Amino acid sequence: MASLRLLFSSFLLVHAILLLSNTVNCNEDEDKLLQGLNSYRTARNLPILKEHDNADCIADEVAQQLEDQPCTRPIGPSTAVPGTGPQFANYPDALKKCKIHANTTRDGVILPACVPKLVSTLVLANYTETQYARYLNDSKYTGIGIGSEDDWIVVVLTTNTPTGSFASAAACLVFKVGLDHYYLFLLLGLFLLLTN
Ligand SMILES: *[C@@H]1O[C@H](CO)[C@@H](O)[C@H](O)[C@H]1NC(C)=O
Ligand SMILES: *[C@@H]1O[C@H](CO)[C@@H](O)[C@H](O)[C@H]1NC(C)=O
Ligand SMILES: *[C@@H]1O[C@H](CO)[C@@H](O)[C@H](O)[C@H]1NC(C)=O
Repeated sequence: MASLRLLFSSFLLVHAILLLSNTVNCNEDEDKLLQGLNSYRTARNLPILKEHDNADCIADEVAQQLEDQPCTRPIGPSTAVPGTGPQFANYPDALKKCKIHANTTRDGVILPACVPKLVSTLVLANYTETQYARYLNDSKYTGIGIGSEDDWIVVVLTTNTPTGSFASAAACLVFKVGLDHYYLFLLLGLFLLLTN
């Protein structure tokens, strides 16, 4: 019985650590770019871009796919329509992984940039002083997701219209409910252990 409890508590501990390391996910490069872009927006009397989980997921996936591309390879803006997406990336695959409803991405835009070591001033300038500026200067975009991998950084902008909201496909809801149960189970387990 004692060994069973030990096994159970180590199981809980490992999972708690895994969950924590997953949720505590701050990335300085991405935070700096977000701050910079929102200062740019504020200076132009535009509402700030709100962080958007699904856009973040897409940005992460695309950044991972671009990671091995040479930094000298320019990749311009692209639409977020299924079947398109940034050159050299498998965008439909990213959409599938992030479980985003394909009909809700039409008005979004994907903006990849590569800056050696992601020097923050250069990264910001690559968005605010290039062809990308016109997207950031556009009030129709309301949400943002940022992903980075190595020297690559990817910004995904969403709108608050049904065709640009990057809404989750039904499968994602099921997954979320599943995860909630998982948390509940963990909490219950910890509670039982602590009160015994
Ligand atoms: C997606 O959009 C197309 C055309 O706009 C429509 O025919 C289709 O029913 C939509 N699919 C869903 C699941 O909403
Ligand atoms: C964009 O980043 C590159 C490095 O990849 C840098 O050489 C260039 O100056 C940056 N562009 C702007 C407009 O700052
Ligand atoms: C930003 O948008 C405003 C209004 O549409 C326009 O007057 C201005 O020139 C734009 N600035 C840039 C840098 O695109």
